[in-house]
This record gives sequence, C-alpha cells and structure tokens, in this order.
Amino acid sequence: MSSSPDTVAREVRRRRTFAIISHPDAGKSTMTEALALHARMISEAGAVHGKAGRKATVSDWMEMEKARGISVSSTALQFNYTRTEAQPDTEPTVINLVDTPGHADFSEDTYRVLTAVDAAVMLIDAAKGLEPQTLKLFQVCRHRGIPVITVVNKWDRPGQTPLELIDEIAERIGLVPTPLYVPVGIAGDFRGLYDRRSGRYIKFSRTAGGAKIAPEELLDAHTAANVEGEAWTAAREESELLSEMGQDHDQELFLAGETSPMIFTSAMLNFGVRQLLDALVELAPAPAGRTAVDGTVRAVTDPFSAVVFKVQAGMDSSHRDRLAYMRIVSGEFERGMVVTHAQTGRPFATKYAQAVFGRDRSTVDTAYPGDVVGLVNATALAPGDTLYNEPPIEYPPIGSFAPEHFATLRARTAGKYKQFRKAMDQLESEGVVQVLRNGTRGDASPVLAAVGPMQFEVVTARMLAEFTVETDLEPLGYSLARRTDEASSAELDRQRGVEVFTRTDGALLALFSDKWRLQYIEKEHPDVTLEPLVAAAD
Ligand code: G4P
Repeated sequence: MSSSPDTVAREVRRRRTFAIISHPDAGKSTMTEALALHARMISEAGAVHGKAGRKATVSDWMEMEKARGISVSSTALQFNYTRTEAQPDTEPTVINLVDTPGHADFSEDTYRVLTAVDAAVMLIDAAKGLEPQTLKLFQVCRHRGIPVITVVNKWDRPGQTPLELIDEIAERIGLVPTPLYVPVGIAGDFRGLYDRRSGRYIKFSRTAGGAKIAPEELLDAHTAANVEGEAWTAAREESELLSEMGQDHDQELFLAGETSPMIFTSAMLNFGVRQLLDALVELAPAPAGRTAVDGTVRAVTDPFSAVVFKVQAGMDSSHRDRLAYMRIVSGEFERGMVVTHAQTGRPFATKYAQAVFGRDRSTVDTAYPGDVVGLVNATALAPGDTLYNEPPIEYPPIGSFAPEHFATLRARTAGKYKQFRKAMDQLESEGVVQVLRNGTRGDASPVLAAVGPMQFEVVTARMLAEFTVETDLEPLGYSLARRTDEASSAELDRQRGVEVFTRTDGALLALFSDKWRLQYIEKEHPDVTLEPLVAAAD
C-alpha cells in the first residue's frame, strides 16, 4: 500500500540530504563520527575502532553497525536527529549524509555523488584554510547550485583568525561567509561560541579524549563577559564588524549560493557539532522536485522516481555483485516495487533494495525523496539513469567530464585477453574511467581517459584484485580533448600530434598533445569541428 502524498510531503519536510566536502585530513571522518555521536548512534567517539586515534574506517563502521544494529556504510549514513530546542512532540529530522570519495584525486565520482545531495558542508582546517581539493569541490557545488555551510574545523589548534579565514573564502571563491557563531578564544584556545543571532554564549567543556558529547553551558552576555573577559569582547567586536559589512545570515542568499553560514568547530573535542546539526535542520533545504529532460518538473509528491548516481562492484569478496545507488527524487519507494528503467524501457524489480552496504547488509522497505537506496545486481543500471513509476520521466544525464589524462592499458599476458575485455566492460559501465577506441590501435590496448590519474590506479588495482588480470599502463602524450564529428575526423587524422577516438557513448573525441597544437589546428583549419567538453570545474 502506497502512502498518500500528504505522508510523502511530511517525510520530505523532515529530510536533509548533504555531503561533507573537504581536503583530505581536514577532519571529515572525525566529524562524521562526531555527528553520529550527537545523533546518539554511538555512545562514545573513538570507542568503536579500538585503535589509537579516532580515525573511523569502513570496517570500523561495519563493526559499529553490528554492535548497534544501525545502518552505516561508506556510501550513505542515515540517522535521526532532534534539535535541542525543538518542541517535545517534534518528529526527528532524518539526516542523510552521503559520502564523497576520500582520495586526494578529484574524479567524476565525486561530481556524481554531489548530484545526489541538497546541501554541502565545506570543512576547512583552521590552520590551512582553503586547500586545492576544497576549492575544486566547492566549484562543483557552485556549478550545481548546491548551498554550502562552511565549517572551520580544528579550532582547538593554533590557526588563522576568523576574519582572515572569512576574507580568504570571500576573495578566493567569491562566497560570502555569514558566521552564525563567532568563536570565543583564538584558534588553539577554543572556549565556546558567541551565538550571533541570540546574543548568548555557549561555553564548552572538554571530555576525556573528546570521546563524549561536550557539555555546554548557556550564558547570557553579561555573565559571559565576566567569565571570558577579553576573549568575549573580541568575539563581540568581530561579530559587529561582520554585521557592518553585511555578513549576517540571509536565508535567501544562502539558498541562492551567494552566502555561506559559517560555524567554528573542533570535531575532535565535539565542540560546535550540535550547532552544525542544528544549522542543517534549520537552514539546509529539504529535498525538492527535479526538472526532466523535456523540461517538465516532477514534484516530490508525484509518483516514484529516482536517479542512479553511483554504480559499484561489490568491494567485499563475499558479495561479488554490482550495486547501484539511487537517490529518490519523488514519491514513496517500497521494496519489491517493479519500476521502469527509463534508458531501456525495461521493468526493474527492486526486491533486493538496501539502505546501505556493509558486510551485513540491511534491507530497506520504504524510503522517501532525499534517501539513498542501494540496488543489488543492478547490471543494467549506469550512473545518471532514471527509474520511475508511471507516468514516465527521464532526468538529464550526469554528463562526462573533459578528461585530461590518457593512457593505454593492455593485459600483460595474451592468454588473459578474454578476462581483460570483461573487466574493461565492467569498469567502464561503472564509470570508473572513460574508454576510447579507434581502428588503428585495436581493442587489445584501449585508451583510458580520466579526469584524475588516480582513476587509472583504481582500474589497474581492480583488474588484478577482481579479475586476476595483470596489466601494463602506459601514459600517452595527450592532455586535451575536444568533441569533433565524422566530417572533421579525416582532416584531423592527417595532423601531427592529434588522434581521433570513439568513446563508448558514441562521441568522437580528438586528443591533442597540448593547447598550442590545438590552437594551431583551429587556426589552420577553421572548418574543423572542435567543441570543448564539460570541464571538471565548469
Ligand atoms: P579526513 O577524514 O578529512 O581525512 O580527516 P580525519 O578525520 O581522518 O582527521 C585527520 C587528522 O586530523 C586526524 O589526526 C584527526 O584526529 C585530526 N583532527 C580531526 N578533527 C580535529 C579537530 O577538531 N582538532 C584536532 N586537533 N585534530 C583533529 P591524525 O593524527 O592523522 O590521526 P589520529 O592519530 O588522530 O587518528
């Protein structure tokens, strides 16, 4: 029995789906664990993994899953959270934290994941400020119009001043930070937060090893001034300066991606974590409808529809199947429902739907817009695909990025060729890399095209681990790709430093050694079609 649109609307209103974007080491894992602690999914941070430090790994989460009977995975973490100041009968907010790939190399994966969220938390290390990966990820958020909450983490360690960090963000990325709180105490002496909207002071106390939720004391301005003296005055002054510069929170500007509410935290000490959760509940947008290829908009209360944003072969040797993760866009999802795969028009049975994945997979029976559901053995599904219940709908494809790294790959031993082909097909359909072919090179050594070289490493490692194929990767001297057409390829093929390929989606791509080669050909052969592809940061 399907629920009424009213039920769906209610469920949507209480959902928040977001991702944390950060440069490696800014504290994403620590923050994820701190959020789980505040949502009371775990009782002690650091306790679940039983090793030095607080770094939670996927297997740690799996242990936690077993111990607490909750659903956690490296793909999406769902938990309920009730704001401290909420009315007693308020339904908890359902928070979906979608994981972005942790590796340092920017890849299309991250971009795809960011198509599945409604907001992002940009986590910055107080001492390091903006780092390359943060910048790139932020650009993706801007491109997709995703509102961003900025979190300055590690305030318990020496770093820059709040105003320096604010200026850096405003200048380098053009996003105006509007702090909700100003820290009391300089970086390295984190005492509490001045709540700019209520004028009150939240004073934190440390717990042993930062394992528990940090006790908070709520003080009025007068008491705060007595307790903190200079540090309190400095925070008040900074706040006033921000107000004079117009840097107060404005919900409309935040949703339009022009400003970013900012919070200072120490994920390690659990300071400011509750404030971050409260901000997500209060300010981040609930899931909204989506525009289809034909320009129509599917409202969240319309019949079921979802977009596949990630496809992955079972990482775990005991589950060698292919998992497709979908973000629900509209309607109620019920396990067992037979939906339609828009790209093939074929029915798709959802008997094996799972909330998340780990060694112990947990089944999901119902889900609503904003939720992430994994489908097992989804061999026909690819990133960007649409699933729906009548009436039909198809969402725009996620799109491939302009590759910047190229290499040929071949099986080390000829006897492994069949396996090699099979593995190539599998990895290609998951979207791990783009694969380019042309008649001259033949099929034994296809050209791999990637946004980041880390994608190549993933291919060779998985070839070996999952298909027992040893491979040789040889970088190619190309650095640029342009889309071309049949009529232009003959001319391009005659040029030095250029090679034309067909990508699996049928697109013809011309590869160039460098931008000078490209400019030369554009000048000498103005009739040749050479269109830019979507760049990673477009
Ligand atoms: P990541 O997932 O973004 O890569 O970062 P992760 O949480 O693993 O944190 C990276 C390092 O920063 C870890 O230290 C972690 O303990 C530390 N860290 C995270 N948040 C805070 C914070 O608020 N304050 C301070 N002072 N440190 C923080 P590590 O030395 O690499 O590991 P470990 O020995 O602590 O486990």
